[in-house]
Amino acid sequence: MNIAIIGTGYVGLPSGVGLAELGHKVTCIDIDDKKIEALKRGELTLYEEGLEDLFNKNIKNGNLSFTSSIKDGIQDATVVILAVGTPPDPISKAADLTYIFNAASEVSKYLRKYTVICDKSTVPVGTGDKIEKLILKNNPQAHFDVVSLPEFLREGFAVHDFFYPDRIVIGTQSKQAQEILLKMYEPLQHNTKIICVNRKSAETIKYASNSFLAMKIHYINEIADFCEKSGADINDVALGVGLDSRIGSKFLNPGPGFGGSCFPKDTLAMDYMAREVGVNLTLIQSAISGNLLRKKIMARRIMQKASRFKDPKIAVLGIAFKGGTDDCRESPAVDIVKELQSLGATNISIFDPKALNNAKRIFGNTLSYASSIEECIKDADLLVTLTEWNDFRTLDLAKMAILMRHKIIEDYRNLFDPETASQAGFEYSAIGRSNLPYEALAS
Ligand code: UGA
Repeated sequence: MNIAIIGTGYVGLPSGVGLAELGHKVTCIDIDDKKIEALKRGELTLYEEGLEDLFNKNIKNGNLSFTSSIKDGIQDATVVILAVGTPPDPISKAADLTYIFNAASEVSKYLRKYTVICDKSTVPVGTGDKIEKLILKNNPQAHFDVVSLPEFLREGFAVHDFFYPDRIVIGTQSKQAQEILLKMYEPLQHNTKIICVNRKSAETIKYASNSFLAMKIHYINEIADFCEKSGADINDVALGVGLDSRIGSKFLNPGPGFGGSCFPKDTLAMDYMAREVGVNLTLIQSAISGNLLRKKIMARRIMQKASRFKDPKIAVLGIAFKGGTDDCRESPAVDIVKELQSLGATNISIFDPKALNNAKRIFGNTLSYASSIEECIKDADLLVTLTEWNDFRTLDLAKMAILMRHKIIEDYRNLFDPETASQAGFEYSAIGRSNLPYEALAS
């Protein structure tokens, strides 16, 4: 099947590569000429675990191509997928639909045969109707259906999630469009459940899913706060709670707050949409405000420890919004480091296995960038972990202790074993684990 995907970001590119791997002829389209030129040269424009091999393979076998022209890109396509950004409006926080309407408008000019136009961007409920109207207004003769095809890929696991999705949601009542999309996903039908629902339900499923996951994280973070005060250990509590199959063990990892380009934006947009129709989503509102406050509290907690020293060197491990990606958008680590700076920290060194280039665009020369973990923590007074990279979990804490000036760890991703940290001489504090010295806890 010929498929065109508009937008080559974290959703569009992995989806395009995945569909090509399923055997379809995929053209990826982006208005950014530089990106398209790089992709044509065989250079991946983002980091995503496992993507590079599939990307190279499908360029070689001719299943994957790139263009910056919507006209050329969609001419043979049976399915056109819109996967452009929907950033929040800076004031209202509603999703900004400029890119998606521009893309749909451009597509409408070149529709010559029946085409299924799928929206994979996360858009407010009712946007599918607006896209349909816009296309009909521009091109009344056009023969098409607009389908909501929400994306559930996680960054860092996009390749895995593409081939083993928990579900595929097809939002349309058009039988013709449903048949074409079921055919498109046929190779995946044994790995997943495919459900067909109406367009507005599909649009809602996306927001309701992301908001639920954000609330689940916020919930476990609050329970972690309680554990710190009560002497319980959040890791054990999350384990025990998650074994209830009605709750499930995923997304119960406490941390410095949820981030990324989706949860903060989608919870805000869900709240905005609900207000528009007179519904008050108090749980989501609480997760939004609690998550913002959490990052400030984390920074204050670090400063409390750091302020014991004169011009303390704070070593930060991890700046991406989570492990497995170079993406720093809405990263809790970025917000916490900014807050540290505004609280007066001047000697911050950061290390991240993938995200340093993106971090440089944010922080410029206001802090130092280490090229290794050892360089980052050398002569540091305090070590803070903010991103859950696997490389950090296996650190030899005894060796780390020798490199540091003072032996303090603030582990906000619960990467280390408190006993090992204590044995290495560290004053160790984690999320949701009583911050008494280990010996006291063990007694
Ligand atoms: C999220 C959803 O998980 C995907 O299903 C969805 O497709 C995607 O948004 C999207 O809408 O495009 P993603 O933003 O890649 O995916 O990241 P997650 O893995 O969900 O993590 C989001 C944030 O929550 C990160 O900051 C992460 O560190 C944090 N998190 C996650 C926790 O603090 N604890 C957890 O247990 C899980």
